Amino acid sequence: MSATLAAAGPSLYWYLTRSTGAVAMLLLSIALALGVVDVQRWSTPRWPRFVLDSLHRNVSLLALAFLVAHILTSVLDSFAPIGLIEAVIPFVGSYRPFWLGLGAVAFDLILAVIATSLLRQRMGYATWRAVHWLTYASWPIALLHGFGTGSDVKSGWLLVLSVLCAALVAAALLARVIAGWPEHLRVRGAALGGAGAFSLFLALWLPQGPLGSEWARRSGTPTSLLPHAHASTAGGSKR
Ligand code: HEM
Repeated sequence: MSATLAAAGPSLYWYLTRSTGAVAMLLLSIALALGVVDVQRWSTPRWPRFVLDSLHRNVSLLALAFLVAHILTSVLDSFAPIGLIEAVIPFVGSYRPFWLGLGAVAFDLILAVIATSLLRQRMGYATWRAVHWLTYASWPIALLHGFGTGSDVKSGWLLVLSVLCAALVAAALLARVIAGWPEHLRVRGAALGGAGAFSLFLALWLPQGPLGSEWARRSGTPTSLLPHAHASTAGGSKR
């Protein structure tokens, strides 16, 4: 497999980075929605709780597998100088450091959530639950990372996929906020306010940010990798 990839050159890694990133984002959104279904204890005779439980766990683990593939292929792709360190320590690299750093933050949060879930029997419920809430923070951070550093934000398919993921997560959040109303009104209000503020931010930022002109330069791509400097480099068609 690796010989084939190496022979095909770095651009194959680049395609794999983009596709695994998109699939990971979709799986994370589905895992989040399934988590809400699970915590609400919704079940039917056809979908008993243990089935929903294991679906939630397995989709989360599949998302992690795609994330690992996403990170490894971005490191193996020789176009941009990205090391394994940048995948776990945020904001230390030279390639779009802020936007790649958000990916590292999201990855670290997801690692913490999955690790504590695998070790759940060995820790208190309150600790596990507090860490699990980080899922709600990791999702928008990962979305911003994809928009800020991805090559496909200007092509319709990534936007459509992102809107679908956002709709799924918004529906899950709404269901979570509505259930048990009006207990913990402050937390519910903060969740709704945060979601509204994030949507407004995206609507204002996207047109002048990743969808605007010269995003490759403005997002922190090293000058030597900008299209005019590297028109013929494999993978050089990155924005
Ligand atoms: C929860 C964690 C993460 C998620 C959900 C995620 C998802 C995504 C998505 C959706 C894209 C856009 C792909 C496209 O434009 O087609 C992307 C781009 C990218 N991600 Fe991540 N990512 C995560 C973490 C990371 C980490 C830790 C790294 C560090 C190595 C990384 C490296 C990259 C790179 C280099 C790109 C740009 C690929 C390109 O040139 O188009 N990602 N990611």
